[in-house]
Amino acid sequence: MKRTAGLVKTSVTASVKSVKSTANNRHPPLTLALPRGRILEEALPLFARAGFDLGAAEKARAGRRLVIAIPEHGLRVLIVRDTDVPAYVEHGAADLGICGRDVLEEQGADLYEPIDLGIGRCRLVVAEPEERPVDENAQMHLRYATKFPELTRRHLQARGTVAEIIKLYGSIEIAPLVGLADRIVDLVSSGETLRQHRLREVETILEVSARVCVGRAAAKLHGDRIDEIIRALRTVVSA
Ligand code: PRP
Repeated sequence: MKRTAGLVKTSVTASVKSVKSTANNRHPPLTLALPRGRILEEALPLFARAGFDLGAAEKARAGRRLVIAIPEHGLRVLIVRDTDVPAYVEHGAADLGICGRDVLEEQGADLYEPIDLGIGRCRLVVAEPEERPVDENAQMHLRYATKFPELTRRHLQARGTVAEIIKLYGSIEIAPLVGLADRIVDLVSSGETLRQHRLREVETILEVSARVCVGRAAAKLHGDRIDEIIRALRTVVSA
């Protein structure tokens, strides 16, 4: 089934007042999966501006707690790895989550993505050593190292390039320096890591930012409450 770009639900006014008023313990808490790291840092102030003070999540994180109740907003926050957010949401262990477009597209999870938050911006690029550019006409056996084998496979297929894909879990920039790969497909934010390793960008595959993702069951069961959160976020994201 394809993902769709929005929840079709009845209108709820997304003022801070209404955000709090529906959270009066009349329902079990909604569970929100947040990825630790840069997206979390940027998401907390965004939620605060939308009327959801998740400050408790920040404090609990400092104390290494990973499940945090925020009863004043009827929420429970899970702090998880970014690549695990889709699994929590798809299997209903979380009702909604925040996740980079890179992870969502790589995993192809069957989720609604009602809003792009515009945070955690970066790009997925192909890069190669400045001093050893690939000659694409040379019919060489090419190797691409990446944390994103599926996105890489799709990119190569679209270009009609035959190459071996080597899945790594981090420090991708090292791979071409030590002969593990000819090229890498990796995320670039400031570009500093590429520069430090004397790699140059060949092309951008995907513009990335973080999105809210919602499980299909959660959208059916708690659509109004989720819609309320989305509407509140929309007022600050488009502002
Ligand atoms: C990410 C990415 C690059 C780096 C890019 O790595 O994979 O290595 O950040 O950032 P920059 O363009 O601002 O230098 P991450 O920090 O997640 O660690 P990893 O290499 O272990 O995946």
